[in-house]
Amino acid sequence: MILVTGGAGFIGGNFVLDWLAQSDEPVINVDKLTYAGNLDTLASLKDDARHIFVRADIGDKALISELLAKYQPRAVINFAAESHVDRSISGPGEFIQTNVVGTFNLLESVRGYWSDLAAEAKAAFRFLHVSTDEVYGSLASDDPAFTETKTYEPNSPYSASKAASDHLVRAWHHTYGLPVLTTNCSNNYGPYHFPEKLIPLVILNALAGKALPIYGDGQQIRDWLYVKDHCSAIRRVLEAGVVGETYNVGGWNEKPNLDVVHTICQMLDDRQPRSDGKAYAEQITYVTDRPGHDKRYAIDAGKLERELGWKPAETFETGIAKTVDWYLTHQDWVQNVTSGAYQNWIEQQYS
Ligand code: NAD
Ligand code: DAU
Repeated sequence: MILVTGGAGFIGGNFVLDWLAQSDEPVINVDKLTYAGNLDTLASLKDDARHIFVRADIGDKALISELLAKYQPRAVINFAAESHVDRSISGPGEFIQTNVVGTFNLLESVRGYWSDLAAEAKAAFRFLHVSTDEVYGSLASDDPAFTETKTYEPNSPYSASKAASDHLVRAWHHTYGLPVLTTNCSNNYGPYHFPEKLIPLVILNALAGKALPIYGDGQQIRDWLYVKDHCSAIRRVLEAGVVGETYNVGGWNEKPNLDVVHTICQMLDDRQPRSDGKAYAEQITYVTDRPGHDKRYAIDAGKLERELGWKPAETFETGIAKTVDWYLTHQDWVQNVTSGAYQNWIEQQYS
């Protein structure tokens, strides 16, 4: 079996669902269930014996060590993190705690478990760390896309904490021989995306008749990847990645934020027109920019494509259509995640 951390979040949740749709290998899913963790995402696995959910903090060394000893996973995939840049600006402490200290404790638990494995299991074991392109910093418009050898230049508390975790993972390989793999992916989008992030926020605000907040001039560029393509890349790296290597994951889909928002508005105009007949784009509102806002990210996924034969299945056009349709047809999930604490965040961030 495999052990996944953060499997009640956006990418981890999609990963667990996809994994069990394609394989009977059980998953132990360890998640603290912060505001971003949501068991509704995993509702279809409620009576599925292949999914074992444990509410726990990756920083709880004793409990994680106990789980490893009990279930003897052949791999650990670490999705657990605080992941929202704006939250890292208003409250960086949790990011240091989970992304840095939590990853350190997790590595120590895993090292203890792995050290005691018999030779064959020890050689086959993998620790796959899921990271981000934001560790590489920001690109000028004519810079080449990030390759795996790009220097780390993180600019936000979030990206700095992820960079620190990547360095710890690297060091645990070089110093202790822990068989690690690291993936650095660009912006994901798709089903079960918590609506504090741009794409789901815009879809839901549009439908609710609310402002569509564009930070600054909206010309910042992000490189979008449909979440299921990220999941397939992780499966491929786990299966065939070279121990100690890092792999960039991306879909060659660079878009300015404003274009993304206009695309979503157009799709909603076609699928669920406003009752007053006006365009959803009229709800676009320019708001104060994010402090230290990175201008452009772009991932060169050539290594993963060349060496492991991975390719994304979706273009931005097909992926965004699936995403908009998913939100239109999953209002129950939306209602559950947008109650309570979510409202407090939106009030604090956009008032
Ligand atoms: P998310 O915020 O949706 O989910 C994070 C999950 O981790 C939640 O279920 C949360 O409850 C859990 N968690 C948080 N702290 C924990 C702790 N201390 N112990 C156990 N569980 C904890 O995040 P996401 O968007 O799914 O991102 C998953 C991973 O992928 C993160 O490491 C993130 O840095 C990375 N990543 C995200 C993107 C993206 O576009 N979303 C892109 C590249 C990489
Ligand atoms: O690049 C990968 C990263 O992508 C991941 O590591 C992070 O976990 C993930 O949250 C994401 O970070 P971003 O900051 O790029 O995503 P976000 O959806 O928050 O913002 C996307 C862009 O849209 C960014 O340039 C900021 C802008 N934005 C965002 C929000 C929430 C707005 O203009 N208005 C908004 O209200």
